[in-house]
Amino acid sequence: MARPVAAMSDSASSKLAEPDTPRPAAGVPVEISGVAHVFRRAGMETRALERIDLSVRAGEFVAVVGPSGCGKSTLLKIIAGLLAPAAGQVEIAGRCVAGPHTDLGIVFQSPVLLDWRTILDNVLVQIDLRGGRPAAYRDRARALLAKVGLGEFENRMPRELSGGMRQRTAIVRALIHDPPLLMMDEPFGALDALTREQMRIDLEKLWRERGQTTFFITHGISEAVALADRVIVMTPRPGRIERIIEIDLPRPRHKEVVTSRRFAEYCDEITECFMRHGVIQY
Ligand SMILES: Nc1ncnc2c1ncn2[C@@H]1O[C@H](COP(=O)(O)OP(=O)(O)OP(=O)(O)O)[C@@H](O)[C@H]1O
Ligand SMILES: [Mg+2]
Repeated sequence: MARPVAAMSDSASSKLAEPDTPRPAAGVPVEISGVAHVFRRAGMETRALERIDLSVRAGEFVAVVGPSGCGKSTLLKIIAGLLAPAAGQVEIAGRCVAGPHTDLGIVFQSPVLLDWRTILDNVLVQIDLRGGRPAAYRDRARALLAKVGLGEFENRMPRELSGGMRQRTAIVRALIHDPPLLMMDEPFGALDALTREQMRIDLEKLWRERGQTTFFITHGISEAVALADRVIVMTPRPGRIERIIEIDLPRPRHKEVVTSRRFAEYCDEITECFMRHGVIQY
């Protein structure tokens, strides 16, 4: 059964710490045990997920790749507590998720900005929704916007920005309250290849600074290898975990790393998984 989704998808919490309150740098562990899901509608059943078991370490960057319709978004919604699984459970920081989990940030494929608010105010909406004082977060919002190349655009309106700039705003909005868990569902899917590459580099930088546990869904095999500590390869629907590939490449993942032979071998390994299932056919 779907749970109500609060505005911006990561719902309000009244206990928001001010930005100068020290927080531990590391993220939270996420434990997914026996998660399965079936959608039932008008007598039709869709088996979306089957027996997902995964332990994500605190601060780990996990990328999930899988064919369209294999249940990736469903899994993300279950982890975030936006959807109750048909079976199994999710624990975040040792606590069972039993409803919308608030101590996280979510980024979707499309940035969903408020047209009538400036870029800075769009970021600060997150604080408003959580019952915090936006004024206390202005400096942090500005610093984060500058870090992703939007320093000069904080007073612009969303319509004045490119797709990539809007998506950067959405990423800053998801990070402004310094969540220990960041969930991203194909966040760069609508972007051109060059912007996508730059966003990938920026995201790795942001993640290295804070070490929030990150769950990143993508269709891009090389993007997954470039970003992740581990890549979770899923089967076609009903989605199961086909392989978990530890990416033993140095960070930051500079040009020398992403053009290395080892990098190409990881990409090949994932491509071959998909070829075995007929997801990719040459
Ligand atoms: N609310 C829903 N009601 C009924 N079926 C649904 C619902 N949401 C998803 N499904 C079905 O569940 C399956 C998994 O969907 P999901 O959106 O999780 O896939 P995905 O892996 O995220 O795909 P994509 O890569 O295209 O985004 C699909 O067959 C989809 O049609
Ligand atoms: Mg999806």
